[in-house]
Amino acid sequence: MTAPFSPDTLNSLRSELESKARKLFIDGEFVAAASGETFDVTDPATGETFASAASGAAEDIDRAVKAARAAFPKWAATPPATRADMLLKLASLIEREGERIALTETLDNGMPFMMAKFAGVMGAAGQLRYNAGWATKLAGETLTPSAPGEWHAFTLREPVGVVGSIVPWNFPFVMAVSKIAPALSAGCTVVLKPAEQTPLTAVILAELVQEAGFPAGVVNIVTGFGATAGAALAEHKDVDKISFTGSTSVGKSIVHASTGNLKRVSLELGGKSPVVIFADADLDKAIPAAAMGIFGNSGQVCAAGSRLFVHEAIADRVIEGIAERARSLKVGAGLAPGTEMGPLVSEKQLERVLGYIESGAGEGATVAAGGQRIDGEGYFVQPTVLTGTASGMKVVEEEIFGPVLCAMRFGDGEIDAIAEQANASEYGLSSAIWTRDISNALKLTKRLQAGTVRINGGAGVDPSLPLGGYKASGWGRENGRAGVEAYTELKAVTVAL
Ligand code: NAI
Ligand code: MG
Repeated sequence: MTAPFSPDTLNSLRSELESKARKLFIDGEFVAAASGETFDVTDPATGETFASAASGAAEDIDRAVKAARAAFPKWAATPPATRADMLLKLASLIEREGERIALTETLDNGMPFMMAKFAGVMGAAGQLRYNAGWATKLAGETLTPSAPGEWHAFTLREPVGVVGSIVPWNFPFVMAVSKIAPALSAGCTVVLKPAEQTPLTAVILAELVQEAGFPAGVVNIVTGFGATAGAALAEHKDVDKISFTGSTSVGKSIVHASTGNLKRVSLELGGKSPVVIFADADLDKAIPAAAMGIFGNSGQVCAAGSRLFVHEAIADRVIEGIAERARSLKVGAGLAPGTEMGPLVSEKQLERVLGYIESGAGEGATVAAGGQRIDGEGYFVQPTVLTGTASGMKVVEEEIFGPVLCAMRFGDGEIDAIAEQANASEYGLSSAIWTRDISNALKLTKRLQAGTVRINGGAGVDPSLPLGGYKASGWGRENGRAGVEAYTELKAVTVAL
């Protein structure tokens, strides 16, 4: 198999990354961090450092927020059709640079190149095109008050202001774009803080934002660490809203940090999403979907289907089918042709995942497939299936964020009992149901505490579909109408006639 990318592009990219540290993008210019500091960027497929990025901190965040504040009034007043045009232009530039972006993403995060290209690059362009459409469609309503007298009453939707976007490392590029697209469409200006594990594609985004002609200060990108740059952004008194995707514990610290000026907060946090397979399901579809629902992107997916509930009549067949897929999955470097699953993002993440597998075994789970680190360089773990798991075990309760499935069985019984098991989690992000009985599927759908329900297959993360969680999986929704309206304030206006 030949590589689905040009080796020349990869070589020139590598030497470019080696030659100089990536910079911050503040007020339309590429600048070093105020401290002059940089940090190393590691390739998780080898464990080697191959690039470095500016280590932005409080002073840089403050400059970026000031630039975003200064740019805000003019951007908010820019005709919506002009804002839409700029988002569409950025989408085209992203496609033009698709190979370079996807290669960088794979080097930085480890994901298979084809995933970086389709989920990352194409997904990002799709987000921009979808949200460009909203710029001209956001609108208020006319209302009918009951107070005595004659009224003309209406609402105005106004951009919320300066937005701080904090993104994680599991889908760095598409998440960065998914944050800025609705914010810019609504007329907000942005300070984006990428994850320290994966800062590189955000810097390409900055170059393309500049080329697309966005006015200086509309988009600012500050690479750096969570405890410094991230915390400074979350606390900043002149930031009107934080949109965060990441761990539940940092989500909580962002809520605390927001109390200074009571900025708006949207949170897309962790999950422990159930996959329910009934005895009448189409197993030719359900088995591979359940397997890739947990092994895809090495399980580093907020909506990963990490708890399997399968009817006892088909449980052996389903669990063996998924275990077989786990054993046959091609695990390797994201740039190697045919790779289906790459490494975990970091040594820390590898240790975390191995720790959970060990804890599961310690609590009595059986390893039906995988369970080991893959020897050699890089942070690779085998796709893993645990059976004999039950609620109360750490592996069943906590988000592992790795390719580890906990399989459990259910018998004939009430939908309510199945829902109770599926809902026995602090999280409520996503869920999947496999059955040919539409009535059972919809009954269970109504009982599940989950922001997403996928019946007999899902459309993935689509810009039109609201994404977000019940319970500790977060606050608010991204994507869809709700996702762009989350970047607005609603003003009620009455005129006494
Ligand atoms: P994290 O929540 O620490 O990192 C996400 C982002 O938050 C990064 O940009 C980071 O720099 C920033 N951040 C960290 N501390 C901050 C603070 N005090 N204030 C503001 N920003 C801050 O996630 P981490 O530690 O890298 O991963 C740990 C676990 O979190 C994973 O194993 C997984 O369970 C979960 N996670 C969930 C994600 C999701 O998509 N829901 C994404 C990434 C991690
Ligand atoms: Mg962290």
